[in-house]
Amino acid sequence: MSLHISIDEKAPVAESVLMPGDPLRAKFIAENFLEEPVRYSEIRNMYGYTGRYKGVPVSVQGSGMGMPSMGIYSWELFQDFGVQRIFRIGTCGSFDADIQVGDTLVSIAASTDSNYCHMFGLNGTYAPSCSFILLKKVMEASDRLNIPLKAGNVLSSDHFYESDPDWWKPWQKMNVKGVEMEAAALYANAAFLGREALAILTVSDHFVTGDRATVEQRQKNFTDMMAIALDAATA
Ligand code: HPA
Repeated sequence: MSLHISIDEKAPVAESVLMPGDPLRAKFIAENFLEEPVRYSEIRNMYGYTGRYKGVPVSVQGSGMGMPSMGIYSWELFQDFGVQRIFRIGTCGSFDADIQVGDTLVSIAASTDSNYCHMFGLNGTYAPSCSFILLKKVMEASDRLNIPLKAGNVLSSDHFYESDPDWWKPWQKMNVKGVEMEAAALYANAAFLGREALAILTVSDHFVTGDRATVEQRQKNFTDMMAIALDAATA
């Protein structure tokens, strides 16, 4: 038992965890893709489930939105439940002309405008980055499933709404591929606690073209991303 995640003794948290932002997504994944899912936590309705995929134990846990929320849940999963690897699965906006709505983007590094990493007491600018081991697993899964990936630096922002409509242009200039709100905290926690993490994102909206994913596109892209994450988590 930890402060924000409870535990059902029939369902210990698995060593590999998929984290969507939305707890109802966690419920949907558990009920539709895992064998014999059991809900181990419902504190604040931030559901967590453990089941099996192709016979291998895997958990799915909502992270909530933003780095404070991801920071809390991933910290407790690593520290209190012995979780070894976390795959964030979520959406992002993109400002890269070579990336389109519907693409699957792996966050190799997570630049950030957040102060999250200040708690580690570093005398400089830390560069949160994904696990090379998980990156390799995800690339192998993408080859096996024939689902192409894009990859690069992604901004983990504290803001969804910005006062300046052109705020993203300096990040675009630095070859940052898109924006989401959680990966940097996840990567920093994993680094500090000696575990593995990687964020796989589907592009739901585009800053250059103004495109947005339709409901059908979102569903298909989400299924692709989850297939890669489940395959990589259990390979
Ligand atoms: N900003 C932050 N997070 C996001 C966005 C965005 O534009 N789109 C999807 N997740």
